[in-house]
Amino acid sequence: MGTLTYNEKTFLLDGKLFTIISGAMHYFRIPREYWHDRLLKLKECGFNTVETYTPWNLHEEHEGQFNFDGMLDVAAYAAEAQKVGLYMILRPGPYICSEWEFGGLPAWLLAYDKMPIRCNCPEYLEKVKRYYHALFAQLRPHLSCNGGNIFMVQIENEYGSFGNDGDYLRAVDQIYRDEGVDVLTYTSDGPSAYLLSGGTLPDRLCVANFGSNPKGAFAELEQFRPNQPKMCGEYWVGWFDHWYEQHHVRDGKEVAGLFRDMLDCDASLNFYMFHGGTNFGFMNGANFDNNTYCPTVTSYDYCAPLTEAGDLTDTYFEIRKTIEERFGKLPPVTAKNSPKAAYGKVRLTESCSLLDAAPRMTDKIVGPVPLFQEDLGQNFGFTLYTATLHSMYDNQMLDYDAANDRVVVWLDGKRAGLIERDRRRDEIRVNSKIGQTVQFAALCENMGRINYGPQMMDRKGMTGIRFGQQKHFSWETYALEMTKEQLARVPYQPHNGGVSDATFLRGTLTVQGTPADTFIRLDGFHHGFVAVNGFNLGRYYNDAGPQKTLYCPAPMLHAGDNEIVVFETDGCADAVVTFTDTPELG
Ligand code: GLA
Repeated sequence: MGTLTYNEKTFLLDGKLFTIISGAMHYFRIPREYWHDRLLKLKECGFNTVETYTPWNLHEEHEGQFNFDGMLDVAAYAAEAQKVGLYMILRPGPYICSEWEFGGLPAWLLAYDKMPIRCNCPEYLEKVKRYYHALFAQLRPHLSCNGGNIFMVQIENEYGSFGNDGDYLRAVDQIYRDEGVDVLTYTSDGPSAYLLSGGTLPDRLCVANFGSNPKGAFAELEQFRPNQPKMCGEYWVGWFDHWYEQHHVRDGKEVAGLFRDMLDCDASLNFYMFHGGTNFGFMNGANFDNNTYCPTVTSYDYCAPLTEAGDLTDTYFEIRKTIEERFGKLPPVTAKNSPKAAYGKVRLTESCSLLDAAPRMTDKIVGPVPLFQEDLGQNFGFTLYTATLHSMYDNQMLDYDAANDRVVVWLDGKRAGLIERDRRRDEIRVNSKIGQTVQFAALCENMGRINYGPQMMDRKGMTGIRFGQQKHFSWETYALEMTKEQLARVPYQPHNGGVSDATFLRGTLTVQGTPADTFIRLDGFHHGFVAVNGFNLGRYYNDAGPQKTLYCPAPMLHAGDNEIVVFETDGCADAVVTFTDTPELG
């Protein structure tokens, strides 16, 4: 499609002056059926480039087994973008941050206890090499050096915010070369000499990421690295949300104003995000702010120019107007907002308690000590730890080495309390006489691995469980990733009314004719996730807000009966969910 190079001032496309106007859209956060629509909307806004990360932890969910199917068919995404007339910036990481589980790194890396990540460690780099070998087997034909649209590839991601190992950055760049990536490679970092010095390579283009004060940021970049074009690698048009915090919004006029400032600096840029999409399933990441674990919500709306459901916003039209002002009239927008449906209330008429369901969903793992998910070979979801306590206990308190991240505890099948990492720790005590036994059960939810900063080695599950000072040995553990297959094994019984404890609930949404996009409200529920026809739409957390609805894209539904499964950890007043046509993100 064209070769991108640069001189000391500007980018050149096949030798001609070129301004990159790019927007970030992650194929893995968008139903595949909607890729074309979202790419067309980007093109019709006047952009010439789409940017995407690639998530290693989905492409190689299990070590050595690769997946590029369906929503993970990144080659098809590149091809679709090329058809629409867009260049592509590829950011394979291997670390991608992005509010994505463990910054895109596979959880199984954490099972290699002594292996450091994101540095020039041969064992780690071998794993990166194997992944990149599989990735570029898919993408090689789509590189601009082979006639494709991928004309720029990023090395690592904001590495200067994590480390200072230039040999590692060099090694990642070299793997690209070895895989035939003969296109412009570059690094991106925060706009300060400190961050740039840790994250850059002297002979590779470097760009800066920021969301305000373009003049100041570009001045820093220019001072650090004169004689190269200026580019904002991530122009943050909005921001992501955590549970327990406010929803972020930003005015479209402000976004367009800063865009103009960037163009005034003769800069290129990548809007982050142009369309955020959704952290479907359990793929949200988390931050560790002020010594507190802060998981990111399910929606990745980001207050981007296209909403989570792909709708055109004021910001979209403000940006488009700016592009027309600077680069000339654009053809009219033909892409439309998707139809939305308010299907109304659906009663969940079947149920099964978690404690009854778990042994049917997966084989138990028997061992002396409770293990982290990573050591159980589990990447995501919930782990149920059970044990029969035989000792004599005089009011001994439950204690542990780790409980990551949210734990419901039962004693003899009765709910005994809740533990929430850095936020809540109910006092749970065991009292039993000689000759008595107590059944202990703890359901530990991985709320998303930390994706940024020094706390990233974020192992999930419970370890070192003790009662008073005694460690308990002999555990039966159930790894509940809540896959489609596991959910299909839940033995439901007829149900009426609400529930008071961790329960699977099931009902049917009947759709007449072609399905439309819709949003699920779970009023009266507390916390859990929703699966539609086996597809996990993600977590809800009404107690923690700000997000109150889950996006259910039309492609996850079909005409006729659709299975709706809700797993609720704390109970609900009445087992009724509502399908509405309006999202509520807080
Ligand atoms: C950084 C990262 C991105 C993303 C943004 C915040 O710039 O590079 O992946 O995490 O912050 O949304």
